[in-house]
Amino acid sequence: MSEPLVLGIETSCDETAVGIVRGRTLLANVIASSVEEHARFGGVVPEIASRAHLEAMQPTIKKALADAKVSLNDIDAIAVTAGPGLVGALLVGVGSAAGLAIGLDKPIYAVNHLAAHVSVDYLTHAQEIEPTIALLVSGGHSSILQVDDITSSVVKLGQTIDDAAGEAFDKIARVMKLGFPGGPAIDAIAKEGNATAIDFPRGLTTSNDWQTRPYDFSFSGLKTAVARYLESVPDYVRSDVAASFQESIVDVLMLKALAACKESGIDSLVIAGGVAANSRLRAVAALRCEKAGIQLRIPAPGLCTDNGAMVASLGALMAAAGREPSPVAFDADSSLPVTVVSLS
Ligand code: KG4
Ligand code: ZN
Repeated sequence: MSEPLVLGIETSCDETAVGIVRGRTLLANVIASSVEEHARFGGVVPEIASRAHLEAMQPTIKKALADAKVSLNDIDAIAVTAGPGLVGALLVGVGSAAGLAIGLDKPIYAVNHLAAHVSVDYLTHAQEIEPTIALLVSGGHSSILQVDDITSSVVKLGQTIDDAAGEAFDKIARVMKLGFPGGPAIDAIAKEGNATAIDFPRGLTTSNDWQTRPYDFSFSGLKTAVARYLESVPDYVRSDVAASFQESIVDVLMLKALAACKESGIDSLVIAGGVAANSRLRAVAALRCEKAGIQLRIPAPGLCTDNGAMVASLGALMAAAGREPSPVAFDADSSLPVTVVSLS
């Protein structure tokens, strides 16, 4: 039997995204973003996102089918993000996916957005390496995971106790009037700055923290330190602030991810989520992993931020592993824990 053709739908935030994969081969990845409609509010407005998803859903599905050169009747299974995310936004994807599954009489996999971020890596690397440590860094989440099986067993080793890494980028970019989302803007201007110009704090890295919460993150102290710096140094150098702020985040993320690899004896690290697109994080990770003898995998930047291919990928992995599909009447869960890979 040929590998399953899976269509994945992602609507947890402001991207209406549809991906199509055959097994581990990516056939289409179409993204319609409503980010510009939110930009003037400095963050995603849920009502605007839900409406934009409704409007974009059908054309996005059509474009994905055309790109993949398949018809709807060829699809073997549907996958959809069931959570976490904005509930009104999730419901548009879930409703559309359930409608497709019922209409086509095909199974549906209601999957976790965060696990999907990690699973997209399986598309670009033919051979999976499990168990692996995963550093998951997005706009809403930052955690260190131990992944024994991406279709069934994800254990959380630590997480942020306040802001997510992407959220810290977005908030600092806002204070620096760099626009929304802030990550790409800070990444770009930091390239011209000196990362050692300002010694910003590294959250939760005292020796006591290493004893009590080695894999947890805290970025709110950093955020406050940067805001104070901007207030107290009126003629600050923007690129130096951006580079030094970014360096603090990247340094802590890598220190903790590599400590988790070392402590668990797992010599494989996947970095996933929107912040994994950050060029400095990618460069520092490559250097430090090589030095530590850790095999590093980071999806291509375009697959790190939200997309439909990651959802289709996890659905295809679930199908290939013989996992039970989800019942068609499931609830979207805005706070679905990262350890729940799919709804059953
Ligand atoms: O995974 P994602 O697309 O959406 C969520 O699930 O949250 O992550 C979005 C986050 C935003 O906070 C954005 O600023 C950040 O990822 N981001 C970046 C970069 N590209 C996106 N952060 C740092 N550097 C980047 N190049
Ligand atoms: Zn995401």
